[in-house]
Amino acid sequence: MIVVIDFGSQYNQLIARRVRECRVYCQIEPPDVDIEAIKALNPDGIILSGGPSSIYEKNSPKTDPAIFDLGIPILGICYGMQFMVDALGGSVKKSIKREYGFAELTIHKPENLFDTIDKSATCWMSHGDSISKLPKEFTITASTDNTEIAAIENRKKQFYGLQFHPEVEHTPKGKQMLRNFLFSVCGCEPNWTMKTFAKESIEQIRDKVDDKKVILGLSGGVDSSVTAMLIHKAIGKQLTCIFVDNGLLRLNEAAKLKIVLKQHLNINIRFVNASGLFLEALSGVVDPEKKRKIIGKIFMDVFDAEAKKIQGADYLAQGTLYPDIIESQSAFGGPTSVIKSHHNVGGLPKKMKLKLIEPLKYLFKDEVRELGKTLGMPEELIWRQPFPGPGLGIRIIGEITRKRLSVLRKVDDILIEEIKAAGYYKKVWQSFAVLLPIKSVGVMGDKRTYENIIAIRAVTSKDAMTADWARLPHELLAKISNRIINEVNGVNRVAYDISSKPPSTIEWE
Ligand code: XMP
Repeated sequence: MIVVIDFGSQYNQLIARRVRECRVYCQIEPPDVDIEAIKALNPDGIILSGGPSSIYEKNSPKTDPAIFDLGIPILGICYGMQFMVDALGGSVKKSIKREYGFAELTIHKPENLFDTIDKSATCWMSHGDSISKLPKEFTITASTDNTEIAAIENRKKQFYGLQFHPEVEHTPKGKQMLRNFLFSVCGCEPNWTMKTFAKESIEQIRDKVDDKKVILGLSGGVDSSVTAMLIHKAIGKQLTCIFVDNGLLRLNEAAKLKIVLKQHLNINIRFVNASGLFLEALSGVVDPEKKRKIIGKIFMDVFDAEAKKIQGADYLAQGTLYPDIIESQSAFGGPTSVIKSHHNVGGLPKKMKLKLIEPLKYLFKDEVRELGKTLGMPEELIWRQPFPGPGLGIRIIGEITRKRLSVLRKVDDILIEEIKAAGYYKKVWQSFAVLLPIKSVGVMGDKRTYENIIAIRAVTSKDAMTADWARLPHELLAKISNRIINEVNGVNRVAYDISSKPPSTIEWE
């Protein structure tokens, strides 16, 4: 396996992805990771990531230089290379000109990292500092017009440095360079597959849980369902899932999920219908944050009460994914981590005094889907679009009433049916309807109407951190609009949301 030290680059997740695409397992660690913890992972190599700092800034991130004594290959990328140079006795200086964008790389010898790569290759630069003096026993292996020291190596120790970013698409030969590092330099084997991951996770869960009991909040979404499946394979009936119907689910969703989950997962599931509690508490509430808080609090209370009925539970399992972990531990965790915190039910383990199990915490979303497939889960569970915990509650702008819920449910059902029929359900990240708190005038069968407006939102995204509105075909939008207005009483106008995130968000509240 490979350890990536995270110096805060926006491309860190990409490095991890690229390594895993080569079927080599890799894990991102913060710069202050203990050297003993690295040794315990027994990595075949280390990659030092880029980062926004200058090595000579006061609080620039540093990692224990003892990594250079581990006797394993190390690849420094951008800031990571500058850290390596500085730590090993070379020097780094501020460049007169910041270099950002494409550059032509001249490779001095097509060996090692550059094995099978032509003498010149396009690369992507993004740096303000440059190497001014090499550490002992290092040589320059590639240059650009602007940056003489664009790539370096200490062949004896197997230390490599790249001033540019091999992990981004803009460096077309970057993947080959990373492959060379993994396979020729580090001697990794491409044997990390979802099957191995599943097998190892199941063993680890068994060891950890022993004869204790585990509780899991099941939402019907991909992450919690795959978590349930994995843990169930490990410990069977020692796992109990709790599904809370908050009254804010889609049309017939609770009933449909009940059938699918029972049929395919054959797991202990307790279904709790708490719709009344939620809807009563939300009555008259229009402020989005208040809605979220009320929904979050009641969920915790209901879940806690149900969990207490399960005697002797020691563990709470959660479907946390890798991007969430990276964000919260990143050296430069931006405001995104704050925005996300209220999305998850983070207060549960503290309140319930349970130990956490998060078996998906090193996986990306598409890897979770692959894992689900490996575990034999049905498509309809693996390929569900994300649905927020507060459900339709944050898609009804203004007051949530049973009547308005019923209107939105019918609209949402038509929308999803058409999106699926047109083959767009998997192509977009999310597609949903929002019920607005204003009415508009229309004409139906020669009669004036004064009814609700629906906004349709469909976005493309990789991770929900940024998103763009989906360019759905006009014919599809026309069909959706026609069906909604014709089939749902109380709606006489449909609008399409054409805002991206940022500056908007995906959900309206
Ligand atoms: P925003 O609206 O912040 O949403 O752009 C980003 C992603 O998160 C989902 N989302 C939530 N998920 N609980 C959840 O489990 C929440 O409170 C919540 N709020 C937003 C949203 O659907 C999108 O995928």
